Amino acid sequence: MRVAIGNDHAGLALRAVLIELVESLGHEVVDFGTDELQVADYPVFAARAARAVRDGQADLGIVICGTGIGSSIAANKVRGVYCALCSDVYSARMARSHNAANVIALGGRVVGVGLATEIVRAFLGTEPSAEPRHVRRRELVRKLEAGSDLAEQG
Ligand code: RB5
Repeated sequence: MRVAIGNDHAGLALRAVLIELVESLGHEVVDFGTDELQVADYPVFAARAARAVRDGQADLGIVICGTGIGSSIAANKVRGVYCALCSDVYSARMARSHNAANVIALGGRVVGVGLATEIVRAFLGTEPSAEPRHVRRRELVRKLEAGSDLAEQG
């Protein structure tokens, strides 16, 4: 797989570890930085990684900032991107399995290196579930995205 990575200054430490992890798992990293210590604006880097996923330049994405919150909000503004902020392994697995999230957000000031590694390992190693109820719910999210208010759903 090709995995896009985008981070701000607060995601720098985690970024280095996760790039190594992704490559050690046999995937290719599509790196959108930043790799500099100076203060960087998370929406810029999260959007670059998210757009790479939307455009098919990457299969999945990882965005990192201090909390992961800003990056997840920014990534989710890119249509076709479903970004899940995860601080535990179970959520990362479910984000892929139930929600078919294609980008994961992490907080570099929230999760330690060991936990982040396990979270990303779970995210990359889980496929979206084909169970009809999950597919249906994901379709409803896409309808929302297309402007539906889902009123017909009762
Ligand atoms: C930067 O200080 C911090 O606000 C940013 O990394 C992120 O946590 C925003 O959500």
